[in-house]
Amino acid sequence: MIEKYKNFKNWVVYQIYPRSFFDSNGDGIGDLNGITAKLDYLKELGVDAVWLCPCFKSPNVDNGYDIADYRQIMDEFGTFDDALRLIAEIKKRDMKIIMDLVPNHTSDQHEWFLESRKSKDNPYSDYYYWADEPLNDWRSAFGGSAWQYDDVRGQYYLHSYAIEQPDLNWENPKVVKEMQNVVDFWIDLGVDGFRCDVIDQISKDFVNNRNSFGPTLHDHINQLFGREKTKHIFTIGECWTKEIDEICRHIGPDRGELSTLFQFEHFDTGRRNKWEPSDTGLLRVRDVLTKWQILHQENELLHTLFTDNHDNNFYLSRVGNDKELRYESATCIATMIYLMNGMPLLYQGQEIGAAGSHFDSIDDFDDIESINKYNELLARGKTKEEALFAINFGGRDNTRRPMAWTAGENGGFTTGTPWIQMGSRAKEINLESDLASEKSVFKYFKALFALRKEMEVLRQGEFIPLHKPEDKFAAYLRKLDGCRVCVVTNFDKTQTIDIPEMKGKLLLSNYGRADGDASAFRPYEVALYSVE
Ligand code: NOJ
Repeated sequence: MIEKYKNFKNWVVYQIYPRSFFDSNGDGIGDLNGITAKLDYLKELGVDAVWLCPCFKSPNVDNGYDIADYRQIMDEFGTFDDALRLIAEIKKRDMKIIMDLVPNHTSDQHEWFLESRKSKDNPYSDYYYWADEPLNDWRSAFGGSAWQYDDVRGQYYLHSYAIEQPDLNWENPKVVKEMQNVVDFWIDLGVDGFRCDVIDQISKDFVNNRNSFGPTLHDHINQLFGREKTKHIFTIGECWTKEIDEICRHIGPDRGELSTLFQFEHFDTGRRNKWEPSDTGLLRVRDVLTKWQILHQENELLHTLFTDNHDNNFYLSRVGNDKELRYESATCIATMIYLMNGMPLLYQGQEIGAAGSHFDSIDDFDDIESINKYNELLARGKTKEEALFAINFGGRDNTRRPMAWTAGENGGFTTGTPWIQMGSRAKEINLESDLASEKSVFKYFKALFALRKEMEVLRQGEFIPLHKPEDKFAAYLRKLDGCRVCVVTNFDKTQTIDIPEMKGKLLLSNYGRADGDASAFRPYEVALYSVE
């Protein structure tokens, strides 16, 4: 594996949803100064790099993923100077900053689009996809046709997401240049890397009627990140493929494209049906992740180890027991995934065992995707209760509700009125209560990351699965030279687990298991052994 990828495995990355992290000025909206105020907290947890969801100027139709200016900060989040201070404070703590790059689309309020729509022959006229008639039957990810008629220009434009998010035309070299300049602008300010939003969509495959993975995709990624200035930075692509060959084209060490990508097979069966619980349990998750661990190793790729983000309900609520065994399942899931071979990445709130919410009225929701889904389900004949169940279960607002820091009013997130209601369990699940509890998820995460830092084998060692398909637990070995660590996580009822590698010194447990204790494993019990 090439050196720079090895180094990325030393990082623990923490994803921040700025709007919901911490509000420093009482306007009810999280902001950049709020993030700066919490950097010591992140450092204490063992975080090496923070990824900020978009914080650029935006009318917020899709909470910042509709960018109106890639070089300005969103008014609610603070000023440009606040951004510079945040970058400086991150560096001061020897941490890295990763920004969210949204290359596929802009806001319809972006100057490029405002100019583009004016006529068919202005300098920006080909920055977007325009046509006299819809060119195909593509659907927007948020519902409805992906083609929208624009009165001003008298043509249709393509939008893979909201109507207010027109797709950029990357086949126009000027667009490529613009985006290179945006990337370079932030690198010059000290940014260490980019998370690249739906990067697979910047090339459309009109021939095969697919709005992603077009024939120019890899040229475009290379134009962005294969350059001298960009080839050493960290880049992670959001990419919806399960094809190993395609993944190798994105992140193969010889490609000069991305460092790694988000690979979503362990997110149930994908985003299309995230609204319904499936019987997908942790055993399937184990098998999917085991498969991808081996494929990443065989191809010398960097695997990103993650379970949560701002586009889904908390993983704990989807595949764990977030009621009676919340601490046990949060720590068990984290142990299984974060001790695998790759780069751990967690989402705000995971470290306190945050769980999904339940609300009884559509008025309690904010997210465009959830609201559109609710209306679509009603139109398809579902009852209000059924539609609410779906968006409570799968909706993005779950993880977008503010981080609860205290058990007090508004979870200590703001002194004002939060932009969206706090999670329905914020009084019960918050950092203050977690730290006061004997079962602190934060303390466990901290110990887990500290162990990863301490033991090179947990960062760089080979992954070797020990469980058999019929087993109801996950067990694997990490191995580096003569050093071996065995990780065991129980997903089932209490059961005896007996594998030869479990005999060494006990390094970590979430049930207070003593060294040398060979008793049965309780539900979601974890044990880590240094194999002699
Ligand atoms: C993926 C992002 O994660 C999501 O939040 C956003 O709505 C879409 N891309 C469109 O930018």
